[in-house]
Amino acid sequence: MKRSITLIITLLAAASSAFAQVRVSTPNVEMVLKAEKGGDLQIRYFGGRLSDADVENIGAAGASHHSAYRAYGLSGASEASLGVTHADGNMSTSLKVESVDRTEEASAEVVRIRMKDTVYPFYVTVCYRAYKDVDMIETWTEIENQGKKPVTLTRFDSGSLPIRVGDVWMSHLHGTWAAEGRLVQEPLERGMMVIKNKDGSRNSHTDHSEVMFSLDGKPQENVGRVIGAALCYSGNYELRIDTRDTDYHEFYAGINPDNSAYILEPKEIFRTPELALTYSDEGLSGASRNFHRWGRKYKLAHGDRVRKILLNSWEGVYFNINEPGMDQMMADIASMGGELFVMDDGWFGVKYPRLTDNCALGDWVVDRNKLPNGIGWLVEQAHKHGIRFGIWIEPEMTNTTSELFEKHPDWVIKAPERDLVTGRGGTQLVLDLANPEVQDFLFSVVDDLMTENPEIDYIKWDANMPISNHGSQYLSKDRQSHLYIEYHRGFAKVCDRIRAKYPDLTIQACASGGGRANWGVLPWFDEFWVSDNTDALQRVYMQWGTSYFFPAIAMASHISATPNHTVFRTTSLKYRIDVAMSGRLGMEIQPKNMTDEEKALCRNAIAEYKDIRHVVQFGDIYRLVSPYDGHNMASLMYVEPDKSEAVFYWWKTETFYDDHLPRVKMAGLDPSKRYTVHELNRIDNVPLPYEGKSFSGSFLMENGLEIPVKHIVDYHKQDDWSSRVLYLTTE
Ligand code: GLA
Repeated sequence: MKRSITLIITLLAAASSAFAQVRVSTPNVEMVLKAEKGGDLQIRYFGGRLSDADVENIGAAGASHHSAYRAYGLSGASEASLGVTHADGNMSTSLKVESVDRTEEASAEVVRIRMKDTVYPFYVTVCYRAYKDVDMIETWTEIENQGKKPVTLTRFDSGSLPIRVGDVWMSHLHGTWAAEGRLVQEPLERGMMVIKNKDGSRNSHTDHSEVMFSLDGKPQENVGRVIGAALCYSGNYELRIDTRDTDYHEFYAGINPDNSAYILEPKEIFRTPELALTYSDEGLSGASRNFHRWGRKYKLAHGDRVRKILLNSWEGVYFNINEPGMDQMMADIASMGGELFVMDDGWFGVKYPRLTDNCALGDWVVDRNKLPNGIGWLVEQAHKHGIRFGIWIEPEMTNTTSELFEKHPDWVIKAPERDLVTGRGGTQLVLDLANPEVQDFLFSVVDDLMTENPEIDYIKWDANMPISNHGSQYLSKDRQSHLYIEYHRGFAKVCDRIRAKYPDLTIQACASGGGRANWGVLPWFDEFWVSDNTDALQRVYMQWGTSYFFPAIAMASHISATPNHTVFRTTSLKYRIDVAMSGRLGMEIQPKNMTDEEKALCRNAIAEYKDIRHVVQFGDIYRLVSPYDGHNMASLMYVEPDKSEAVFYWWKTETFYDDHLPRVKMAGLDPSKRYTVHELNRIDNVPLPYEGKSFSGSFLMENGLEIPVKHIVDYHKQDDWSSRVLYLTTE
């Protein structure tokens, strides 16, 4: 039950300062706002928790006067969070504080600051949710038109933050298909920096909507003050950092307003997506831990549930789905200790059998030529093998060659008067999720599958096409600019319905790989596919970047065949295992083509992963040496919150003779505890010299352990790959 307490602005130090201060705080993070009735709402401070006395004197120390939600039209060249064209054509808005309200939730406090335009019946409520047990403050706004006529919103950010100018560096993720999550780190200079997404349907292939700001110079993993921000939204977004002639970088984040002017009807409330803000004085890894703890507890579907080890059929057989083949893969993964088999693309289509990628999306009926006994038989077989069954769908899409499109040509996104713009296979189209009939159809795709086969345990939900032509055949001609926003409202409605009926189903967000790694998606999804690129070396880089904002439990990471199908690199199986084991372990390979020795290695890895997965999936991350720093190796570790166990990963990323790799200092351990070292996935003929030995946490954090640059294996087994996984346990 929510308890609502109306608070009439906390007046702190009324005598010495003329403004009313509102504190929004988590255990270690604090925001201080100035919210004087009739005045501008300002952010005075964002950082670590302050004492009452320091809050009282914050103005005297010199604090920001940044408008928490500046509206366009009366503040010159300043960047605005909100743009409104009122019914009479007035493009200016002037918002002044009316009230401050605090609401208690079970795990958080919500502060709502309501502002009103000085002339029009137009309101904006700036909201902050401060968690009691994790260091995250979510902010969003509710924009409300109480006038008699519609107004047009031309910008509608979720929130903003001032960041004091200094030696501030920004870390953010950039990429493309098969190269997602590439870390970019750069100093913030003067001028405007904009990161935006325009894909329409997915939003994390290219740039991500999350950033970190290191406040003390060049970013460091385990020391220094860091602000982290993540816009939780599945659609187009825009992040701006404006640095003009003031002492502050101004950070703004929200839905991308490009081609998205929004007509707000009388009495309608436009709720912007949440912007999650955190702060840590323990470096980038500290900010990551804050995102991971908050994400697992309050965002990610089933963030407290251990993930199963699976085999996905895609890279093993592609579209060559058939009954004996599926059965063989199920038997193989079961024999290696896996817990789930996922049948990927290629199982459906009657009039247009899905033999390749140019047809049948939307025709979610099993192809009996390939699978005469249907899905039910496969589910039963999986159970006979002692594993669970999962299946691939791509419900938001269709093809010109499909029965669905033949029946409902009006359901696809298409610009009026123009030819269709097609995607994958030369025939793919995006369904118009603004249309409630399309929403019902999407729900029925999952509902029908689950009704017929209630034992389906896992769904891989793919989305392989951007919105490539602007036009909704459902929205009226004066609402075409609502397309991007309505698409994602439709997506949310469908996902809500699915989750209401199937709360326990595991669902993966895949979108041509990592197109849907975003906290706005994950409340309905258990994990995401990091990338279609399964090359272990490139995965070290991609997973490193992705781990800035997302926990290992959500990062699907699979062992695949060599040469890799995307980059054609040949890595050792040991290396592929050691990389995949740092996320949610799975396999994406044809086991039939593996030797007995390879299978044995995987069987052992799966067994060992079961021993450590609680640490990987629920532990605290400490990144130690970045692959991006040019040391020819990378290393990170996960530590149990009570520091009783840890898993240390070390991957060589380049091989040169006479190369002297750094000795890696560990982090996050209890200095006074003694940790016993045990190597996992061992391939060497002799154990490491410290196998079974114990060391104090302080020794491991001050000195670390020497990691041999190569493996001691028989001559014919030598290669240029080297990696180690060490499991550290206490008594
Ligand atoms: C996308 C996904 C892949 C696979 C294929 C199937 O590319 O990212 O993992 O499912 O679709 O067509």
